[in-house]
Amino acid sequence: MPTAASPLARAHTPADVRAAVAGWRAAGEAVAFVPTMGALHDGHLRLVEQARMEARRVVTSVFVNPTQFAAHEDLDTYPRTLERDAGLLAGAGCDLLYAPTASTMYPEGFATRIAMDGPALGLETDHRPHFFGGVCIVVAKLLNQAQADVALFGEKDYQQLRVITRLAADLDIPTRIVGVPTERDGHGLALSSRNAYLSDEELAVARRLNGRLADAAARVREGAPIATVEQDAAAALVADGFTSVDYVAVRDADSLAPVDGSTGAPLRILAAAWLGRTRLIDNMAV
Ligand code: PAF
Repeated sequence: MPTAASPLARAHTPADVRAAVAGWRAAGEAVAFVPTMGALHDGHLRLVEQARMEARRVVTSVFVNPTQFAAHEDLDTYPRTLERDAGLLAGAGCDLLYAPTASTMYPEGFATRIAMDGPALGLETDHRPHFFGGVCIVVAKLLNQAQADVALFGEKDYQQLRVITRLAADLDIPTRIVGVPTERDGHGLALSSRNAYLSDEELAVARRLNGRLADAAARVREGAPIATVEQDAAAALVADGFTSVDYVAVRDADSLAPVDGSTGAPLRILAAAWLGRTRLIDNMAV
């Protein structure tokens, strides 16, 4: 059963988290689940706050998922701050911290993969081809383990949100998936655990990303050709001081299919850009 070594109860195995959730549900209490990789910031706490509005009980997982990192990425240096995270979650009104180990999640002999088309095509996948396979497998496992009524994910990772929504629908996972608007600093920069990597100079440049996307979205609304807007926004980001731009793309907001702007369907503009060794992503409704 969950231990109560800190003010916040903890679970470390699927059996523990399931037992806690089953107990609450048997008592008629709805359960919300917030999956995270830890290094919590105000964006995560906003998810917990929204979770408390969705359900009587809130479970938050902290698991730095190795399968969504490529060998050359920052798995080893990704910030791990579990005790600080536990304190923040207790203060935010979370009821249970679920912190499984890598060997619990991926025991010897683990052999399953998930491949997705649809919203997983392009954008992040063009630059991080391993990413959504890892996200899909861990989120499918976490949702299956927690058996919550609702799970909340930030819109900052908008393609991930669309992928997880598709995953839950395709695999008949009964947990309702809810997207929560991006939390930003006072300059519009989307909060991210990776912002901690930025120097002061890089932070000043990073804060321009949101404005460039807002300008590009306005041009699309005014009828400018989408390909031109995408190219201009990417060039503007490099002129601002970004090291390179992986993509600026306008897509159908639901399917993330490429668009020409002629259908009138809701659109989303998404971007990924590098500042030195830090990769930032952001997006907004057009
Ligand atoms: O967005 C994240 O923090 C992670 O990708 C997630 C959804 C917790 C899966 O590891």
